Amino acid sequence: MTAQGSSQAGNNLDPWYHHYAERAAGLRASEVRALFAVASRPEVVSLAGGMPFVAALPPDLVVNAMERVMREQGPVALQYGSGQGVPALREQILEVMALEGIRAHADDVVVTTGSQHALELVSKLFLDPGDVVISEGPSYVTAMVIFKSYQAEVDHVPMDEHGLIPEALREHIQQLRVAGKTIKFLYTIPNFHNPAGVTLSWERRIEILEICRANNILVLEDNPYGLLYFDKPAPDAMRSLEQDGVVYLGTFSKTLAPGFRVGWALAPHAIREKLVLANEAAVLSPSSFSQLVISEYLATADWKGQINTFRGVYHERKDALLNALDEYLPELTWTNPNGGFYVWVTLPQLLNSKAMLPRAVKELVAYTPGTAFFADGDGQQNIRLSFCYPTPAEIRVGVRRLATVVRDELDLLETFAGTGSLDPLRTPGRFNPLPNDIS
Ligand SMILES: Cc1ncc(COP(=O)(O)O)c(C=O)c1O
Repeated sequence: MTAQGSSQAGNNLDPWYHHYAERAAGLRASEVRALFAVASRPEVVSLAGGMPFVAALPPDLVVNAMERVMREQGPVALQYGSGQGVPALREQILEVMALEGIRAHADDVVVTTGSQHALELVSKLFLDPGDVVISEGPSYVTAMVIFKSYQAEVDHVPMDEHGLIPEALREHIQQLRVAGKTIKFLYTIPNFHNPAGVTLSWERRIEILEICRANNILVLEDNPYGLLYFDKPAPDAMRSLEQDGVVYLGTFSKTLAPGFRVGWALAPHAIREKLVLANEAAVLSPSSFSQLVISEYLATADWKGQINTFRGVYHERKDALLNALDEYLPELTWTNPNGGFYVWVTLPQLLNSKAMLPRAVKELVAYTPGTAFFADGDGQQNIRLSFCYPTPAEIRVGVRRLATVVRDELDLLETFAGTGSLDPLRTPGRFNPLPNDIS
């Protein structure tokens, strides 16, 4: 009998309801997603999504690369390719990773359909039902959707302003072992974390790798934002310290454009072989056209200069967001990211970020409730604000609207419950920074 029951009939909405595999049970549209359909109306300022600001990429850079590819390598670009990816691009990916201290061989790079697909492939290779993936709490929502679709459990380890807390990781591993659980990997986003905005310190990178090595736990290092730093570069990648125990994921989605759907995995030899087979089984080969255009772009355009342009755009928007929070919502607390797209905000105690969202959308501002980023329903006191897509002026308007919503909620609480503390109390063990944690 499946989780959905044994009946042969479907239901009114879906005649195949009882036919789905158990692993499909986790693939449900959330209520939040329905609201986001409303939030995409132009009058709503969305601080919710994670869309890169691709308008900062001059179209000619792409058009020129596409034209040259089609003129010089058209039949190859339009053909199936290798399941591992275009060799020239894999060599160029080594140059990109070298910027974060990684030395590797192109044989160990597997090009995927975005890093999202690399997450899917690694999960497919490693996860059986009941296995545990350890991740930061909070963590990237669509990675958790994949882990759950392989019927794995996600165990959240707390973080603070320096990233994942090594001592807590040790404790969690021990507790999971005592409970007889099989831990398959640590999924971590060390740089400009999505959604927390924090960066794992160098000392902790070393310590966490030591802990994982000692416990025979693979590290899945997901690094889409590392090159999008503001004031100073993030510490070198964890993969720069350890080859055999780390699968590193990169992508061109944030430093170029997500529409190409090109990312990659850098994996130890044995895992890499299996990844190629899994990639072939899933897509035959990643898009030859996209790969060749990116390869041409990297060979002929000033791609590092373009990354600098993106950095400038996002830095200005991050400043706009933090200034607006200072001005309109000084009673809240938030992280101050040195790169990436996201700020993690802690609401006053008793406010519920999910319950507040419909009212926010009515006020024409959208955010992502913290609950989306925990597998266990935590995060009610948090919201993720993205500064990547709206302009600085829109961000200001959005935060002003959000302030109205927060004040109205607090008024309601005071009226009906005689309470409404503005004290952003820290929930024990979770990442709710106190005001003096904030730089
Ligand atoms: C942490 C993280 N990992 C992976 C991805 C997937 O990126 P892509 O598939 O576009 O490379 C994203 C996208 O937002 C992300 O934030």
